[in-house]
Amino acid sequence: MFDLRPDQFHTVRRLPPYVFAQVAEIVAAARAEGKEVLDLSMGSPDMRAPQIVIDALKDAVDAPDASRYSASAGVEKLRKACADYYGRRFGVRLDPDLHVVSTLGSKNAFANLATAITAPGDVVLVPNPSYPIHTFGFILAGGVVRPYPVEPNDNLFRQAEWAIRYSTPKPIAMVLNYPANPTTKTADFAFFEEAVRFARKHELFILSDLAYAEIYYDEPPHSILEVPGARDLAVEFTSASKSFNMAGWRVGFTVGNERLIQALTRVKSYLDYGSFAPIQHATALALDNAEAITADVRIQYRARRDAFLEAASAAGWDLPKPDASMFIWAPLPKGETDSVSFCKRMVREAGVALSPGVGFGEGGTGHIRIALVAPEDQLASAATRIARAI
Ligand SMILES: Cc1ncc(COP(=O)(O)O)c(C=O)c1O
Repeated sequence: MFDLRPDQFHTVRRLPPYVFAQVAEIVAAARAEGKEVLDLSMGSPDMRAPQIVIDALKDAVDAPDASRYSASAGVEKLRKACADYYGRRFGVRLDPDLHVVSTLGSKNAFANLATAITAPGDVVLVPNPSYPIHTFGFILAGGVVRPYPVEPNDNLFRQAEWAIRYSTPKPIAMVLNYPANPTTKTADFAFFEEAVRFARKHELFILSDLAYAEIYYDEPPHSILEVPGARDLAVEFTSASKSFNMAGWRVGFTVGNERLIQALTRVKSYLDYGSFAPIQHATALALDNAEAITADVRIQYRARRDAFLEAASAAGWDLPKPDASMFIWAPLPKGETDSVSFCKRMVREAGVALSPGVGFGEGGTGHIRIALVAPEDQLASAATRIARAI
């Protein structure tokens, strides 16, 4: 007899319920009971997209051919704007036709590239904790994930070396993500140089997720492609979502190694027709004005970070300062051991939704992640309520 039990599907059995969906259920239930909840669980920017970009979108929507399918790899103007941005921001020269593909967000891009390069059983080194698609992009593609540390230091390479020695077959790729979600860790240029040396020695591709390229508090993050020769083995993912407050528009970029870009482009050509063309035209304008737009975005996040940390500290809850990104990665308070039950309690007792660290992998068990996606006054008041509930 035909059996429709979804938990028996091979792929679905390998996907635990998505962490943000779990928190969303708790929030929905609390709201249904009439409770006010400030949702700081997901890194979904609450600020408006830049006005010039919204205006450009409106104009482009009126073009007679706006509603047709667009180009899967992205229109030339957009790929060129991305290459120009890389030149200005990182001093990296990219050929828009060979080294750049525009994607439906960087999450999609990552999963599609994993599909393109992974044979069943192929092993990939993935940091733990990490943004879920870094692991599950490869699980979806039938790969095997070998976790390794996030902290960008010698120990990371020691552990990676160890993992390679004891993996059969040898890993095909390593994932890097700095500034890191959820830990907010950043890596300096010397780390990226070492990563390229390491990958060359072990014949690994590097997939570097730079979604937080523009959300930083101190030194601007580097592109791995600044390292001479990195393009021989690395691609990098960037996104309009956080840099330009355009998360719902679904535009990202993958740039770098020609062979990987070709592989991704081929898979994408079967799966999508590119973003809505007016969105691509408007995003090109955002990239052309990236410096001015992102300077404003950074000012907001700095004020928000400081408001949250100061209010928490004033109420007796001292938190580590994030290095970059739009998150605070906080250890669970003393006596708490389960990040999921702590987050549930905070919804009930403080009216604030947070992300349980375990949702980013077992390495996140002892933490929670706070997304700075509300104005300063609301963040300060949320921090005070959480601190009191603790
Ligand atoms: C590290 C990281 N990569 C990728 C993404 C996904 O971004 P996009 O909206 O471009 O798919 C996120 C979103 O939170 C992220 O934190």
